[in-house]
Amino acid sequence: MVSPADAERLKRAAAAAAVEEVRDGMVVGLGTGSTAAYVVALLAPRVVGGLDITAVPTSRATEAAAQAAGIPLAAPDELAAIDLCIDGVDEIDPQLRAIKGGGGAMLLEKIVATLARRNIAIADASKQVERLGGRAVPIEILPAARGLVATEIARLGGTAELRLRDGKPWVTDWGHHILDARFPSLDDPMALARTLFAIPGALGHGLFLTEIDALYVAASGGVSRQERPIDE
Ligand code: A5P
Repeated sequence: MVSPADAERLKRAAAAAAVEEVRDGMVVGLGTGSTAAYVVALLAPRVVGGLDITAVPTSRATEAAAQAAGIPLAAPDELAAIDLCIDGVDEIDPQLRAIKGGGGAMLLEKIVATLARRNIAIADASKQVERLGGRAVPIEILPAARGLVATEIARLGGTAELRLRDGKPWVTDWGHHILDARFPSLDDPMALARTLFAIPGALGHGLFLTEIDALYVAASGGVSRQERPIDE
């Protein structure tokens, strides 16, 4: 069992290894969550020291942290491409397919990841799984579509739970709600992703199946890097 302090040390170690890929002149996507927060913390002194980057945050929380750290920012709609994006995951399998959205930011995370030429996932080893599906798949929904999306998830054999905060629906950065969907198995995540994408009012989901190019994963023995095979 990893202690909370060790877990933080591992998250920081994974972030530190990934940040080594950041070079002068890059446009860098900044992920959301407790692991990605270390990316902001580690880049801040390098920016003060003269590193010239523009960062694209994936949430208001990351935007606020990067702004406070003095990192120059741009919005994704101002850019045609991003050089590198570094973000956390909730679960990641050996094919570098991931579930994200525990922090509720998967809609913009997906946009930034799609704009990025290279996406790096950072994680402590607890996020590695043999098969995806131990966690719910978060789905960002238009509040008015809640019944429809829940019905479609039930038709797929799953269950949907409205994410709450303090007893009220969790509201995303974009004013939407989140359904956390559980399925008996995620044997064909690609087919599921396509089906979810086609439901009216389901605005985005946390299945990141093709976006991630590399994983830096930290365990007690150190940080290792895994690249997605070129032909995938
Ligand atoms: C945010 O919406 C998520 O996709 C996060 O990237 C993910 O939940 C990982 O967060 P932690 O690093 O806090 O576990």
